Amino acid sequence: MIRFDNVSVEYPNGVRALNDVSIHIAKGEFAFVVGPTGSGKSTLLKLIYREVTPTRGRVLFDGEDIGALKANQVPYLRRKLGIVFQDFKLLPQKNVWENLAFAMRVIGRHPRDIRRRISEVLNLVGLTKRCDAFPHQMSGGEQQRAAIARALVNHPTVLLADEPTGNLDPDTSWEIMQLLEQINTHGTTVLVATHDSQIVDRMRKRVIQLEAGYVVRDQEKGAYQHSTLTEDLCCGA
Ligand SMILES: Nc1ncnc2c1ncn2[C@@H]1O[C@H](COP(=O)(O)OP(=O)(O)OP(=O)(O)O)[C@@H](O)[C@H]1O
Ligand SMILES: [Mg+2]
Repeated sequence: MIRFDNVSVEYPNGVRALNDVSIHIAKGEFAFVVGPTGSGKSTLLKLIYREVTPTRGRVLFDGEDIGALKANQVPYLRRKLGIVFQDFKLLPQKNVWENLAFAMRVIGRHPRDIRRRISEVLNLVGLTKRCDAFPHQMSGGEQQRAAIARALVNHPTVLLADEPTGNLDPDTSWEIMQLLEQINTHGTTVLVATHDSQIVDRMRKRVIQLEAGYVVRDQEKGAYQHSTLTEDLCCGA
């Protein structure tokens, strides 16, 4: 579904953020991207939503070269993606319901579909009773649930999450990760960039580890740190 073929990214200031990355994310997978600060995790996700284009190599989404999309095709790519960030990025002047409705209105969905879908996703994330709350009236965990609901309203095939638990305490982080896992079991492909070693160790999902822009490990059912006791390495082809 998402394929990186020998992808390198060099920013205009000369920083090499990714080096010769080749990975494949299959439909329905759940994978973590881990690595120290500056190792290229966000850049890897940005390539998928075309915030960044490769300097070398290609990123393919269902066989289509993301880097070669014309500017007017990018919104169609992004409709297939739900994106969640550490700082939630909810619209502060709108309540939860309005934040979600806005994301559906911009792509021209019918008001009846909007009402139906919003009640569905709010139920999924457990926020039905908070639908009229504004972001500043909610806890971090609730805001992240709202952001996840907004990412899901338009039925994305892939959910990208960049440090989704970076601002949350351990219990809330775990709840959010359980929610992402539940979304994954419904068929959505989920890719999470994180520093949260406890969560990665508890979830035992695929781990793609970056160091200075290189993929140094791609392991099924991996832990945050590479353990030589687990030898089920896969080469991510
Ligand atoms: N727009 C940019 N222009 C120039 N350099 C950038 C830009 N964005 C990122 N970089 C550099 O590219 C490298 C990789 O950055 P990236 O944000 O992908 O890392 P990261 O693994 O997400 O880090 P963190 O854990 O801190 O979020 C870093 O050296 C960073 O300084
Ligand atoms: Mg980052």
